[in-house]
Parts: sequence; structure tokens; C-alpha cells
Amino acid sequence: MDELQKKISSLDHNRMPVHVAMIMDGNGRWAKRQGFARSDGHAEGVSTVHRVTKLSSDLGVKYLTLYAFSTENWNRPADEVDTLMYLIGWAIERELPELLENNVRIHLLGDIDRIPEESRKKLLYARDSTAHCTGLQLNMCLSYSSRWEITEAARRLARKAAAGELDPDSISEEMFADNLTTAGIPDPDLLIRTGGEERISNYLLWQIAYSELYFTPVLWPDFSDEEYVDAIIDFQSRERRYGKTSEQVQNNE
Ligand code: IPE
Ligand code: IPE
Ligand code: MG
Repeated sequence: MDELQKKISSLDHNRMPVHVAMIMDGNGRWAKRQGFARSDGHAEGVSTVHRVTKLSSDLGVKYLTLYAFSTENWNRPADEVDTLMYLIGWAIERELPELLENNVRIHLLGDIDRIPEESRKKLLYARDSTAHCTGLQLNMCLSYSSRWEITEAARRLARKAAAGELDPDSISEEMFADNLTTAGIPDPDLLIRTGGEERISNYLLWQIAYSELYFTPVLWPDFSDEEYVDAIIDFQSRERRYGKTSEQVQNNE
């Protein structure tokens, strides 16, 4: 048995995270270290996306949410934005047969209308072609930011209230959550950020209220299957108290 298999068999299958979210950071620095252009780092990052998707599927993770491009990333140099947009369309088209084979359903979170048409069509095609899949749900966050989606949700509810269709006093946390792009998806159990920064960068602010956070200095293109399993092992060692005491949690109160 190799090291990875050993680690996988040490996992507690009753305590697997249902939903894993990832901030895929460090492509640019990876490229710089090798003396390559930043875009080469993004291309290399696609193979990590391929691997973590496959491993999530194999481990029985139900939802994998990947931060691929933030609202703020539109402010990067135009040639880098162009490359990223091209890569996103290219990668989804290339991966589609295997995603279908592995019963993976693609879901898109973010302001998809801002994605250039050629890539947008490929993304929508992949989403529609995998709509019947019942295995892993892969949520791709593109042109996404948490403040954007929270503002959108507030606008939608305000419009309904102004039209007399909604009593403002009836707005509950559940109703608010149902108006986010993640409606119907349970909150992430585990959030992993690669690349060494210990910040959230406008990602899933509402949804990570009680997520376990895991930061690793490993750059995204170097994020191996073993490191992913290490993050899950770490997750399984934590006690999720949700405001209660440790005694209450242990007595199942
Ligand atoms: C993450 O890698 C990918 C995107 C944000 C699209 P970066 O491009 O941010 O890589 P670093 O942080 O500069 O190394
Ligand atoms: C976060 O990475 C966004 C994605 C991984 C898509 P950034 O590299 O954009 O984050 P900051 O700017 O360092 O916070
Ligand atoms: Mg970065």
C-alpha cells in the first residue's frame, strides 16, 4: 500500500465532509518560481482541479466548490484575464467526457453573464449536459464574490417586498440563504485555501459561518492528493461545537 492509500484507509468514513470548498491560490507564484509566465501557472492549476475532483468523487464527498475567478480578479492585467477566460472554457470542454463518466454534476456560481461568450457557452453546455448526474456536484465559482451574491439576494428580496409580495418581517435566515447562489446546497464543512494566505478574499462569507478552515502554504499546482487527504484528516480531528460546550457535544445534546 502506498502512502496515499494508507492515509485514505485511515479516514473515518462516518465523518467525511459532505461539502468541501477550496480557494485555489498560488498559480502565479508557482509559475514565477519555475521562471514561467503567470498563465503557465494557471494552466498547471487545471491538472490539480482534475485531481481534486476525481479524489473528491472517489472519497464520496458530495459537493466540491472551487473558487476559480473572483469579481476582483477582473482587475488583473487584461492578458491574464483573457488567458484565464480561455482556459476555463478549454478545460471544461476537455474534462466533460470524464465528468460524465464519473457522474459529476456541474453547477455554476457567480455572474456568469460576464464570462466571454465562447467560454460561457462551453460552461453552460457542460452544466446542462451533466444536469442528470447524481454523483459529486462540482460548483465552479466564476466571476463570483460573496458580497456580490449577498447584495443580489438583498435586492431580490427588496423587490418582492416593494411589490407587496413579501412581508419584510417574514424574512428568515433560511429565506435569505435560499436567495444566494448556493440555494439548496448545505454549507461547506471544510474550507481549504492553498498558497499560504490566511484570508477569505470575498468567498462564501455567509456559508462558512461554521466551516472548519484549513490553510496550507502549498501552491495550488503542487497541491497533491496526499495533501488533500491530510486536510480531511485534520478536519476529522476537530470538534464542531456550534456554540455549545464540549460536554454537550460529547453527550449528543
Ligand atoms: C489563483 O492563483 C488563481 C486565480 C486567482 C485565478 P493566483 O493567480 O492568485 O496566484 P498567486 O496568488 O499570484 O500566486
Ligand atoms: C482568491 O485568490 C480568488 C481565487 C482563488 C479565484 P486571489 O489571489 O485573487 O486572492 P487575494 O487577492 O490574494 O486575496
Ligand atoms: Mg493569489
